[in-house]
Amino acid sequence: MFKEKATGYEPLYTLKSIAPNVWIADGGWIRFYGLPFPTRMTVIRLTNGDIWVHSPIADKEGLSESVAALGSVRHLIAPNWIHYAWVPSWQLRFQEALTWASPGVVKRAASKGMQLHFDRELGNDSPIEWATEIDQRLADSGYHREVIFLHRASRTLVLTDLIENFERDKMPWWTKPLLRLGGVCDPNGQMPRDMAASFRRHPQHLRDLVDTMIAWHPERVILAHGRWYPVNGTAELSRAFRWLE
Ligand SMILES: [Fe+2]
Repeated sequence: MFKEKATGYEPLYTLKSIAPNVWIADGGWIRFYGLPFPTRMTVIRLTNGDIWVHSPIADKEGLSESVAALGSVRHLIAPNWIHYAWVPSWQLRFQEALTWASPGVVKRAASKGMQLHFDRELGNDSPIEWATEIDQRLADSGYHREVIFLHRASRTLVLTDLIENFERDKMPWWTKPLLRLGGVCDPNGQMPRDMAASFRRHPQHLRDLVDTMIAWHPERVILAHGRWYPVNGTAELSRAFRWLE
């Protein structure tokens, strides 16, 4: 067994400033098909003071109070079909916020017995609420659906699961053979193999998406799981998706 808090990304549930108006917070583990994943959320403050919360993690140790202190929490983002676990508790805490869901979230949540309420569906274009500051695209393989975001001012790309980059020495020992099989270990983080197989049926779609991400020329790339890339983001994207060529 692993300890709940020993993810290696401590301090947990603490806002960490990574660029002007951009923060991350690392959380504890979530289990997905039995495997433990360390969790991470991203917070962006728009120029009007509105706060945008991407893939909210468990609200522990006063995290939501720290987020509330940044501005008006207006947007809660469930960025892909499997990232919504803690959205309900953030909805309760911030009842004035809009909840935005990736395509696939509502159906997946219902299949797991969760009746979730979402206000808006995310698409391939940014809504007016953040279009002047955050670009977005929908990645859709038919199996995996995820909306990716670029905070233009800081050139921060916010991914969820499109790249995973687990650090072996931070993971429970029994997961290491599986991580090696999955090909998702630092420093060679990339798209998990099952997801990549689904995108191989839509190669042009993924190629276009990767071209777009590279054209955005991000300085940093945030990932939901494992070590994220604080510098050389564009080069990391080229490396992570070289299997497409
Ligand atoms: Fe994930």
